[in-house]
Amino acid sequence: MSNNDKIETLRWVGDVDGHLVMIDQTLLPVEFRELECRSIEQVWEAIKQLRVRGAPAIGIAAGYGVCLGLRGANDAAALRTRLDKSVDYLATSRPTAVNLFWALDRMQAKAASLEGESAASIRDVLLAEARAIHEEDRAMCHAIGRYGAALLEDGQGVLTHCNAGGLATAEYGTALSVFFTAQDEGKNLRVFVDETRPLLQGARLTAWELTRRNIDATLICDSMAAQVMREGKVQAVITGADRIAANGDTANKIGTYSIAVLARAHGIPFYIAAPSSTFDLSIPNGTNIPIEERSSEEITHGFGRQTAPTGVKVYNPAFDVTPAEYIQAIITERGLIDPVSEANIRRMLGCV
Ligand code: MRU
Repeated sequence: MSNNDKIETLRWVGDVDGHLVMIDQTLLPVEFRELECRSIEQVWEAIKQLRVRGAPAIGIAAGYGVCLGLRGANDAAALRTRLDKSVDYLATSRPTAVNLFWALDRMQAKAASLEGESAASIRDVLLAEARAIHEEDRAMCHAIGRYGAALLEDGQGVLTHCNAGGLATAEYGTALSVFFTAQDEGKNLRVFVDETRPLLQGARLTAWELTRRNIDATLICDSMAAQVMREGKVQAVITGADRIAANGDTANKIGTYSIAVLARAHGIPFYIAAPSSTFDLSIPNGTNIPIEERSSEEITHGFGRQTAPTGVKVYNPAFDVTPAEYIQAIITERGLIDPVSEANIRRMLGCV
């Protein structure tokens, strides 16, 4: 892979008074445009509108968003009040991806460890913390790729849902990191990409990432997955995750659960690829994971054209939960959790 292939989903420009630049993912694949965020409100809007999306990328954006929220706070007491407000505000942007709350907690914990420091020095340290969240995600993605690629063989067909690529992370992705690493190791894969209704993250983003790296990618409608599996074209399914409960139940983009059930019915292993920042051990199982409900227009007026009768009732949950029993293994930056159980999750995360 050359450096030119790298996707810089997010970058902080300048020092503590700098700003955040992100790829506006709502415009892809037709237009590649970067968006400058100079206020916390712009970061909130970008997360809410999915200009930046994907669990790890949301967490990274939130870290930098906190830094923007602290701009102009010149004394330590005012800064701490502003910090609490910034964290509470960003926490209202999207509910499901735990990486958002993980990053906000981390920023708050760092600030709490700086008792007695000046406002200027707290702001410096918090920017360094946001940068660390960003850099650590980059490293975790590469490690996930290495562990995951060992599961795949040259010539296999794999299926993925939504976008768990470089655009959803600091770089390289989680599920897509597995494919990129396999390619780097000389394995040729045939990747089937679910288009991922209703916002088409698979068609718009995953297909874009795979084709620009010359990976053999075939786009299918979500409803075609069963047929593709029955035809013997898929030997493994790998998706990302937005929140993994203590027992391994996993929230990911709506439609993931269906794919996991289909994979089980066809005897195909279904894997989740996710960094440790996506686990929520405070939640015993998937019934406790908050599922975001999004606007009905995403279904009735997808991408600007009306495709349903005016006034029809719509239900639009953005995520679903795949029960742990359907997951063959979880690929983390520390290794494989296999079989998926609370004991194995706690052991892998060092929380026993
Ligand atoms: O609504 P989105 O586009 O933020 O949903 C993203 C997903 O569901 C991804 O699969 C998940 O965040 C994993 S990203 C590495």
